[in-house]
Amino acid sequence: MARPAPKDSLEAYKHLSPDSGFPTIIHPHFNPKIASHVPPDPIREEITPPKDRAFFADPAKASLFSVAKPVDLSESIGTLLEGMQLSQLDGKQLDELAALVDERGVVFFRDQDLDTEGQVKLFEHFGTLDKHPAQKDQKHVTINGSIVDWRNVSNYTLWLNAEFHADTSFEINPPSYSLLRMEEHPPVGGDTAWVSQYGLYDALSDHLKKFVGGLHAVHTSRLQYDTIIDSWGGEPNRPPIDTHHPAVRTHPVTGLKALNVNPGFVTGFAELKKEESDQLLQFFKLHIHSADDHYVRWKWAVGSVAMWDNRVTIHRVIPGNYPASSRTGIRTTVFGEKPYFDRQSESREQRISRLAAEKAKKSNENGVEHTSELSIHASNGVNLGAS
Ligand SMILES: [Fe+2]
Repeated sequence: MARPAPKDSLEAYKHLSPDSGFPTIIHPHFNPKIASHVPPDPIREEITPPKDRAFFADPAKASLFSVAKPVDLSESIGTLLEGMQLSQLDGKQLDELAALVDERGVVFFRDQDLDTEGQVKLFEHFGTLDKHPAQKDQKHVTINGSIVDWRNVSNYTLWLNAEFHADTSFEINPPSYSLLRMEEHPPVGGDTAWVSQYGLYDALSDHLKKFVGGLHAVHTSRLQYDTIIDSWGGEPNRPPIDTHHPAVRTHPVTGLKALNVNPGFVTGFAELKKEESDQLLQFFKLHIHSADDHYVRWKWAVGSVAMWDNRVTIHRVIPGNYPASSRTGIRTTVFGEKPYFDRQSESREQRISRLAAEKAKKSNENGVEHTSELSIHASNGVNLGAS
């Protein structure tokens, strides 16, 4: 009798989108620990999350900025909000915070008095709480230190641990917002870095933008699933999945294009042959790791908080030698929409250029000299300039 094709034994093949190619990773059934694990929860179905709170925000964010001073940490990404407590914000201010996170990618806070209960309550304002496949608590996950460096461990685990990723980007509905609050932290080490996917898209040549805009990235939980069982001794809640998402996506609130590729969970491109796919993914690793102009690095302390938008940023913890147990953070996450790509949407640079041209034209028509700072508004009224 002929041996069955490998795909016949792969659960993943039952869950591929119609435009799919193939999962590039063969499940390691030879590993009994992995093969014998039976996840208690089923594979998720697509959901429609509640409307993003940023749609309800005042584009000027007057209420939020009446209590908080924004300090941009780089041109492309990251704003520190000073002089405020998250625990004191009302619903209107939280909506404006969501809009700010959509525009700036990640927003930081120091010396916050939130506790876990308060954090969960605050984050429920932004949508339906998501649950990581390795998460035991229904509402939050504990994040420890990570001294693991994928450059050292990739000889025995295929998952690029601590590489740049968007949280659980393999889900059918990957998370929109995440918030991480640090409860314990070493004096040095354990920084987190974020990179803007708006910026990564704009940094491509026009030809590559067009090409990548026609591709789907294969986001998989398979490699992390294996690592959770084999390396962390954990028991994932759900079976591993491969999901094909547009390699360029449109942000529903800002209407801007963002690259949707991360080396932490993307294993290839569905429409390409494997060698083509591998080389393109290799290029994106270089593209991401050389994007110093679209990067921000955050030094944590006890009471520090970061809130980010996984739809337009990727992040990684910087590997180090500090004791992993000396770093404890509480993370909450909410479901986002199924990623989509609207070819008519603008990139961030296109938006800025268009608005500058419109403003200059208006100034000329009115005979007014253009001296004021450029105010950048999206077509839906969301302000792109944080400060
Ligand atoms: Fe993460």
